[in-house]
Parts: sequence; C-alpha cells; structure tokens
Amino acid sequence: MDLRPLGIHPDSSVVVLTGAGISAESGIATFRDSGGLWEQHDVSQVATPEGFAANPDLVWRFYSQRRLQARSVEPNAGHFAVAALERFLGERGRFTLVTQNVDGLHQRAGSRRILPVHGSLFRTRCADIECGKGLGSWEDESLHVDGAPRCPECGGLLRPDIVWFGEYLDPAVESAAREAIADCDLFLAVGTSGAVWPVAGYVDIALARGARTVLVNLEAPANVSRFSEVHLGKSAELLPLLLPGT
Ligand code: APR
Repeated sequence: MDLRPLGIHPDSSVVVLTGAGISAESGIATFRDSGGLWEQHDVSQVATPEGFAANPDLVWRFYSQRRLQARSVEPNAGHFAVAALERFLGERGRFTLVTQNVDGLHQRAGSRRILPVHGSLFRTRCADIECGKGLGSWEDESLHVDGAPRCPECGGLLRPDIVWFGEYLDPAVESAAREAIADCDLFLAVGTSGAVWPVAGYVDIALARGARTVLVNLEAPANVSRFSEVHLGKSAELLPLLLPGT
C-alpha cells in the first residue's frame, strides 16, 4: 500500500465524499457490513415513508436510539483529518465535504463546508409536506421513545429530517454537491459501499470532469473500478497519513 500523502496542493479544488465507514472507528455501526444496522433492523420498517406511515412510534424509537448513540461517541482521527484538509485549503483552494452520514461527527470535528445529502439525525420537521415547507426543519436532540412527537403548528406527526429510501434528496443540497464535484480536481471517497443512489454515481461526475478519483475504504466496494487510486484500510489510520494539514 502506498501511504505517501496525496500530494494535494493548496490551490486544489477537492471534494470529499464520506459514508458510514468514516464513523465506524468512533463506534457507530455501518449499514451493510456484517453486524451492520440493516442486518439488525428491517430497512422497510424504519427507513421508508411507508414504514413511518405504518408505525411512526417504532421509527422514532429507532432514531432516538441512534441520537443517543451518536451523542455518546466522539469524532475520530479520520473526521479530524478531513477538517484539517479544509483548513489547509483555506481561502486559496476550494473544499466541499459531501456526507451521507447523519451523525453530526464531521461538524463536531470542525468541518464547516458540509453538504449533508441524507439529512441530519439531529434535525426534525413536520411530516406533512405543506406544513413542512413553511416550518422548515429545526435542531432537535430530544429522544422520543414513548411515541412519535406532534407538530406544534398542525398537530400532525413530526419526523426526523433524514432522507429515507424511496425519497428524493433535497434539490438544493443535491445540486450544490453535483456542482462542486463537476468543478473538482480531486474526488476522495471514504468509507462508503457505493451501493446507494444517486450518491454512488457522484464519482462518475468527477471522472467526466477528468478529476483524480481516490478511494479510502476498508474493503473494495462495488464501484471500486471507478477509482484511479485505492487505499484499503481503516480511515482513522489512513486519512491522517494521506491528507495534508494534520
Ligand atoms: N474505515 C474505512 N472504511 C470502512 C471502515 C473503516 N474503519 N469500516 C467499514 N468501512 C467501509 C465498508 O467496507 C463499507 O464499504 O465503509 C463502507 C460502509 O458502507 P455502508 O454500510 O453501505 O454505508 P454507506 O455507504 O454510508 O451507506 C449509504 O445507505 O442505508 C443508507 O442512508 C444510509 O447513508 C446511508 C447510505
């Protein structure tokens, strides 16, 4: 394995895409690895609009558990290395962090330019589309283990501000991510299985632009052939060695 730093210049334009793997060493289970969340929970029950309609209390118990867990762990060296890269690029370079993670660990590690394409575990919004449009979403750390909370405005159900299977990404966040990738010199994907669309296809936008595509992942994912440089291993160990600024 080549562990020389990636040779990122301070004028570079870099997009980092992260998935659950970067939080694994903080103690948060990934989704598709053995022992992952989707082995222990039925995706269709806890992460789809249909599952929420059928049993909102179950969905809120699931996300309350995840809020509790995410609050009880700390960002790891991988999160800190990504935040340090953003500081290294500063005003001269361009940096965007696109994350599928909802755990808030990047924010706690000091990353600022973040596009959370799958939403946030610590934000809540009204489940009613019309009411939700008006109210937006808000920060919410509370746990709802006894039942789904109700909207203060319309009395309907509240839901976590997370993008579930079968739902569209927020168009503003999605187009900002695509624009940043279409304009980058280096696309670095970390800790993602490349199994969930549309994010799995972001590497192709980088390839079309002629950017370097680099992967840091524990195991080779399905879309490994899209990457010109592959570093297999734990992100908390590899990123501090590969990235400048730490
Ligand atoms: N360091 C680097 N990579 C790791 C580590 C680690 N310590 N541990 C696991 N990985 C890798 C695994 O090899 C796997 O390829 O991280 C990847 C995690 O994949 P998934 O569990 O599928 O997570 P992710 O790609 O983020 O899932 C995408 O799916 O369920 C939805 O909305 C959810 O955002 C999530 C999306």
